[in-house]
Amino acid sequence: MASTINKAVFPVAGLGTRTLPATKVLAKEMLPLVDRPIIQHAVEEALSAGIRELIFVTAKNKQIIRDHFQADPKLERELARRGKQELLELVQNILPRDAVCHYVIQRRPLGLGHAVLCARSKVGSEPFAVILPDDLVCHPDTTCLQQLMALYQDRNASVVAVENVAREQVSRYGIVETAQAPDGALKMKSVVEKPSPDAAPSTLAVVGRYIFTPAIMPLLKTTRRGAGNEIQLTDAIAALLGQEDVYLCEFQGRRYDCGSILGYMQANVDYALRHETIGAEFRSYITNLLK
Ligand code: UTP
Repeated sequence: MASTINKAVFPVAGLGTRTLPATKVLAKEMLPLVDRPIIQHAVEEALSAGIRELIFVTAKNKQIIRDHFQADPKLERELARRGKQELLELVQNILPRDAVCHYVIQRRPLGLGHAVLCARSKVGSEPFAVILPDDLVCHPDTTCLQQLMALYQDRNASVVAVENVAREQVSRYGIVETAQAPDGALKMKSVVEKPSPDAAPSTLAVVGRYIFTPAIMPLLKTTRRGAGNEIQLTDAIAALLGQEDVYLCEFQGRRYDCGSILGYMQANVDYALRHETIGAEFRSYITNLLK
């Protein structure tokens, strides 16, 4: 199997009910995280891992995501006319020239598993990454996807990002039961979507970064509606376990759930504190505010 991953799928067709009314009209992936929309942070993570084919699974009313990554000749002409060279380069370089975007519409929000399945004709028979932009992971040197990629290249098998969560939160996630490979590497033994705290096999939760072998797509095709009456990616991963090994990546870095108001605000504050131009001033503002 190919050892490099060239394609990333971004399922961005969800309703975003937790962030209403902010996301009634505006796609939640377009909410800004300091100076760039959340989706751009996710795309930059894929690019940093060497991925150049970006597949967005969007809803009909989310044209704005496409607009963001498309050239805007009118804006560019105007910036050039005003001599705003730096800003011109900023908008021209949102994507590198060799990046290719595909947009697939998920007609109805039937679940994350269904959204990934919608990308199958663009993915073809290659291994691919899945990034959920809501889950923002910050690490100073090695992005979460780079960490998964290293494990994928070592094992040549599917890899899923996991994080320890509080037991009372397990019912929000897919929760894994672990097994150890002979060399001690962590593998998935089973996975269950949104278990109750007393039924959860562990507190290790699947979070929004995955690398899949092509075997996942046919399994998604036959996955029936599960938890929440949605077609769950977790259920297809459980089926994949019957065919192949799936490895777990306990990634380094801090994760923010930008799909919730609290997580989104935490991410904004932390990113602003680290921001190269506004960071120092913002820090003194916050320090004074909290005095
Ligand atoms: P969420 O569980 O966050 O659901 O989806 P949601 O609908 O986006 O948001 P809430 O919970 O109502 O606030 C996890 C990821 O799966 C995508 C979402 O866009 C998000 O990236 N998704 C979910 C789809 O693309 N399609 C779906 O049918 C469901």
